[in-house]
Amino acid sequence: MDDPVPLTVIDGDTETTVDVERGANLRRALLDRGFSVYGSLSRHTNCGGRGLCATCTVDVDPAPEPSHWHDAAAVRFGYPRLSCQLSVTEPTTVRLLDKVLWGQVLPRRRADE
Ligand code: FES
Repeated sequence: MDDPVPLTVIDGDTETTVDVERGANLRRALLDRGFSVYGSLSRHTNCGGRGLCATCTVDVDPAPEPSHWHDAAAVRFGYPRLSCQLSVTEPTTVRLLDKVLWGQVLPRRRADE
């Protein structure tokens, strides 16, 4: 890996940091390392990273400027970001979201529940 960047993945109560190549596509980097960005149905029926299905959403920090119309709409309305439309260019933390069948995000559980 020429120019690795740390990517911290928060999945429920588990936090894992992996190195990804600078500029890597966030969705691809997560899937390649066994992290799912999808719901149970959209895992099998998604747009393959074309920015069309909106099922690959994650919370990401720092949040890069959107370059895709759908991702820009997500920013405007405060929705999670499309991982397929983001590149990892600096140390980044991404939180995977609990989803229903498609890409609907489940309400967050509080720590005391
Ligand atoms: S994989 Fe379909 S919008 Fe990202």
